[in-house]
Amino acid sequence: MTVFVTQEGDIARVTLDNPPVNALGQAQRAGLAEAVAQTNAMPGLRAVVLHCAGRSFVAGADIREFGKPPMEPHLPDVLAQIEGAHVPWIAAIHGTALGGGLELALACRYRVAARGAKLGLPEVTLGLIPGAGGTVRLPRIIPATYALEMVAGGKPISATRAADLGLVDQLAEGDLLDSALHFAATLAERPDPGPVLARPVLHPDPAAFEALATKLDKRARGQNSPKEAVAALRGALTLPAPEALAAERAAFLRLRDDPQSKALAYVFFAERAAGRLDRLKDVRAPVPERIGVVGGGTMGAGIAAACVLAGLRVTLLEQTAEVADAAKGRVMGILQDSLARGVIGADRHAACVAAFTATNDPADLSDAQLVIEAVFEDFDVKKAVLAQLETVTAPDCVLATNTSYLDVSALAATMADPSRLVGLHFFSPAHVMKLLEIVVPDAVSDHALATGAALAKALGKITVFAGVCDGFIANRIMSAYRADCEHMLEEGALPWQIDAAMVAFGFPMGIYQMQDLAGLDIAWAMRKRRAAEGKRPANYVRIPDILCEAGRFGRKAGRGWYDYSSGKPVPDPEVERVILDESARKGIARQDFGAEAIMARILSVMQAEGDAILREGIAARADDIDVVMINAFGFPRWTGGPMYLRGPF
Ligand code: 3HC
Ligand code: NAI
Repeated sequence: MTVFVTQEGDIARVTLDNPPVNALGQAQRAGLAEAVAQTNAMPGLRAVVLHCAGRSFVAGADIREFGKPPMEPHLPDVLAQIEGAHVPWIAAIHGTALGGGLELALACRYRVAARGAKLGLPEVTLGLIPGAGGTVRLPRIIPATYALEMVAGGKPISATRAADLGLVDQLAEGDLLDSALHFAATLAERPDPGPVLARPVLHPDPAAFEALATKLDKRARGQNSPKEAVAALRGALTLPAPEALAAERAAFLRLRDDPQSKALAYVFFAERAAGRLDRLKDVRAPVPERIGVVGGGTMGAGIAAACVLAGLRVTLLEQTAEVADAAKGRVMGILQDSLARGVIGADRHAACVAAFTATNDPADLSDAQLVIEAVFEDFDVKKAVLAQLETVTAPDCVLATNTSYLDVSALAATMADPSRLVGLHFFSPAHVMKLLEIVVPDAVSDHALATGAALAKALGKITVFAGVCDGFIANRIMSAYRADCEHMLEEGALPWQIDAAMVAFGFPMGIYQMQDLAGLDIAWAMRKRRAAEGKRPANYVRIPDILCEAGRFGRKAGRGWYDYSSGKPVPDPEVERVILDESARKGIARQDFGAEAIMARILSVMQAEGDAILREGIAARADDIDVVMINAFGFPRWTGGPMYLRGPF
């Protein structure tokens, strides 16, 4: 039994209990249908309060049932029974009410929510649209433009925002269940709005609706579900409710069979599995609350900001008081921006500012539980920093390096206690990017690894464990396909053709626009360093070096692979000439590449490098590689990632 009914006077309580997130599987749907029948039969009842056990209201339909034949009772039918029940149902929402969970709450006559609750229809992120009346009921409760944002945008909203919009009838003061029971007891004092489907749609601003629909449609790129979500909302505004419900359900079932939704469900579970490492199965480490960061440049400032935004205390160490001040300015800038964009309120902002200190005195790191170094990418500089950290911190303080390419095991080997060092490879900007590669050097202790994992969880990162190699998972695959794209340039493609092929495939931008954005000078410096070490490959492509020698460092220089003098990336005949000259110099007969051939080649290089990474044990599972490519480089999520695409899985 996962649904229980109890009666307290003239109010019935229906409790749903299906850990961990009360997903609605067949047993829960059947239990709810039974609860409707049972409460309908209770004499003298005034209302039913529906609430959930555990940490959350309902997080949606059970995604694990998606690949299987649908089983009765179907959710839309159960919700119709709740909406048509003899007495009003009141949803008491805590934690999250997502997808089918919010649809369940929408079928109730009223919603009472805890202040910290989140409500949303994230189905589009799984390649679906709401399939149990969400698109039809929501615009009858809140204005259609906001409904569109929730359905086609997929982002959950806070309970307070939901209350402002009218989606939540009352925010709970104190205990949620007590508030909901009190709400039920005082129903007679409020007007009865009637069943949701019997209400008219709220569509006060058709122009705003259309403007948002166009924006969301564009943002969807190659993904089908946001477009279907817009269509379903349009249907809800124009069709009678029963027809709109039928159209919504048909689209939902169609999308459930779409390869995109299968791929997105795969990514959903892959992201959750990626953070698990067998050797840590029985190891627990508390979240390190006092963090040290060494180096306050691009990465150090972003890492420090991410940590204070997550409620941790940060001391940032720089080389001099002056540079420490500049680093503090960068961190404060990020916090100010978070405040301006409404990510945090004034109170949180003040708390974050108070939790941050910048210093040039290493002794200030003495009480840190975890110190992350983000100094220059130079082995000897990092070695010296780690040696210093070993003397100023406690022996159980975990040390981490944010190196992009250096050998973390070799760095650890320079330390008095190599078991303290773990790799925490953040992506730029560190406070925004969701991915964190936890690099596992040979000598690392379980405590150090588990502490890194605990930090990752506290920061809300998607974690992937990676072995030690040049570039770990993300940068190694990126280096491989970037090198191959350069060969394609010599063989006949142009940067804007490669970028266009990638964008048509679903990347937010192509590799050359991405390089221009990041700046070409850092990779140039690395290539020069490698050349000096005698590490230049035989078939070296000189084109990027020629651009750098001409000062074409990317967007910041106004010129890179593209010309930015108009503010936008424009194909540049000078770059084309450099490329054609290089083909000629090497005696390569240029051939035409179509978009399909370009993408086929990029994918095959990614997959071959992915295979090598698996063979060498750098990644534990192919799924981990997909998680990395999606979250580090904008590989289109709805394809499942390069390894998934190769199938069969
Ligand atoms: N179905 C099945 N399992 C689910 C699930 C779901 N809807 N939602 C979460 N889970 C599982 C996770 O796989 C995980 O299992 P594991 O411990 O075995 O790995 C466990 O519940 C806990 O999940 P998280 O690790 O993600 O826990 P968090 O606390 O970080 O996040 C959450 C909780 C915000 C609810 C997040 O899990 C989430 O976003 N879930 C998906 C929500 C969603 O997309 N719902 C819509 C489903 S589609 C739908 O409802 C169709 C309808 O319109 C008909
Ligand atoms: P950066 O050059 O912007 O910042 C480095 C900072 O370290 C400077 O502010 C410098 O003053 C400080 N520093 C140098 N030696 C120090 C010392 N002994 N003590 C205290 N501070 C010291 O470099 P960036 O880009 O932030 O990179 C830092 C590290 O992060 C590198 O290892 C890099 O490979 C890695 N990384 C960089 C990414 C990026 O996109 N920029 C992404 C992921 C990792």
